Amino acid sequence: MMRVKHSLLQDLNFNDVEMTAGGNLKDSPLAVILLSDKYDSLLAEEADRIRREVYSDEVYLRGLIEFTNYCKNDCYYCGLRKSNSNITRYRLTEEEIISCCKTGYELGLRTFVLQGGEDPYFTDEKICSIISSIKGLYKDVAVTLSIGEKENESYLAYYKAGADRYLLREESASPSHYALLHPENLKAERRKECLKALKEIGYQVGGGFMVGTPYQGVEEIIADLKYLYSLSPDMIGIGPFVSNPDTPFAHFKSGSVELTLRLLSILRILFPHALLPATTSLWTLDSNALERALKGGANVIMPNITPKRVRDNYRLYPGKKNTEKEAAQTVAELVSRISAAGYRAVSSKGDVRRI
Ligand code: 5AD
Repeated sequence: MMRVKHSLLQDLNFNDVEMTAGGNLKDSPLAVILLSDKYDSLLAEEADRIRREVYSDEVYLRGLIEFTNYCKNDCYYCGLRKSNSNITRYRLTEEEIISCCKTGYELGLRTFVLQGGEDPYFTDEKICSIISSIKGLYKDVAVTLSIGEKENESYLAYYKAGADRYLLREESASPSHYALLHPENLKAERRKECLKALKEIGYQVGGGFMVGTPYQGVEEIIADLKYLYSLSPDMIGIGPFVSNPDTPFAHFKSGSVELTLRLLSILRILFPHALLPATTSLWTLDSNALERALKGGANVIMPNITPKRVRDNYRLYPGKKNTEKEAAQTVAELVSRISAAGYRAVSSKGDVRRI
């Protein structure tokens, strides 16, 4: 048993010749692990051992505020794409956003994630004002932004206003695969430049990708793992692609929950310190996957504290859960599920623990 585990870890070591020397990736040990369910319990067990070593049994909660569903982009997989006329667009006011934070703070949340489409209405000035209001009111919280590709000066301005973290999934590290998921004006290269700039500014940075997007094979997944390994992000968000009928990818099937869970464990083994969320898309496809993710390496959950009135309209994909619940109920339920799974939801900023 120990021997298998040891060789598995060696196989996952990115310094391995077969990972770096061109060759046929399909035959690489990592590809074999990705394509088989044989190692799943071993991977989860090892991932959990590592997460307990670095983060003990703590699970960090992030209050997710989806403050605008307007988007100037037209990504083929996403329900917020500008060409989708089947959703009702909304924007929260600064007061509404602050009120979400107030509710969240009272519930013990110490990180607020401001997520939105790329909405030009929210100028840098508006974003900075929101950030500094939150940070002015609450000294012991972290503000995370998830608002897409911006100019470096904008990233710098948000950071100076008090933003601590930035989530920008690379979506696909392979330029040719990226081009199949996005319109012509969006480039993998630009995405990577943004991530680099964010790191240089000093943000705690989150990357990640969807599992099971159209045209994604094992080579593309490995390209993402390698890219993330070189980026060394603080957070990595992965979730299954969920097919959305309101997009050009309506006829593709959703990604696999099993493969996502397997990858989560692999990520924990490769990135012992990383903050790894059990993402909403994962438990949207399979409710039990929340507990399975926690037991296989995940250490972050992002309860949605967006006002109920608009929550259903932030429709990246269909089937979103909890749209009828108040923030307090959402948080309470998650806290009890976390403890039933053998972990502990803590009221803390939950910064990355670099070793
Ligand atoms: N299925 C799953 N995840 C999606 N996202 C966007 N559309 C979908 C979809 N159809 C993810 C993207 C984005 C994050 C906010 O949501 O990876 O970065």
